[in-house]
Amino acid sequence: MNSISKVTLSDHMKLESKKMNKISDILNDLLSDYHIFYQNVRGFHWNLKGENFFDLHEKLEELCLKLNENIDELSERIVAIGFKPIHSYSHFLNQTIHKEITDVCNGEESVRHVVDGLGVLSYSHREAANLAVKADDISSADLLIRFGNELEKRMWTFTMSSKN
Ligand SMILES: [Fe+2]
Repeated sequence: MNSISKVTLSDHMKLESKKMNKISDILNDLLSDYHIFYQNVRGFHWNLKGENFFDLHEKLEELCLKLNENIDELSERIVAIGFKPIHSYSHFLNQTIHKEITDVCNGEESVRHVVDGLGVLSYSHREAANLAVKADDISSADLLIRFGNELEKRMWTFTMSSKN
């Protein structure tokens, strides 16, 4: 039986490898943003105290689960287009635009950081989606638009939970 040939960017996906090299870098930058933001939200979830504990603790957990799902799908897209997803925290810290946030246990402060982080993350999705469209990579663009929309909606819900 003939072995199945490896999918290639040029032959099978009809994508230019030079352009896709750039797209894979952008997706890896986004993957770094996801990981640092994810750890920040984990910290808010674990250290939370105060009156809104039950609701907010749950909502932060849901956000972590969603971020984790997106991380997996994004990483697998990087593999599908023939590149390697980075997976070490030293790389993540070098490539992210997010800052590590530690020692937050106040609900209002956690929500403020979550809204800021989701704003930065969803904007990065929009930028990356625009570049994917320019590279004719509509599958990555579709994934990025879907994730960006979902994150924007979540940002709105967290905004609503804030008193200000
Ligand atoms: Fe938990």
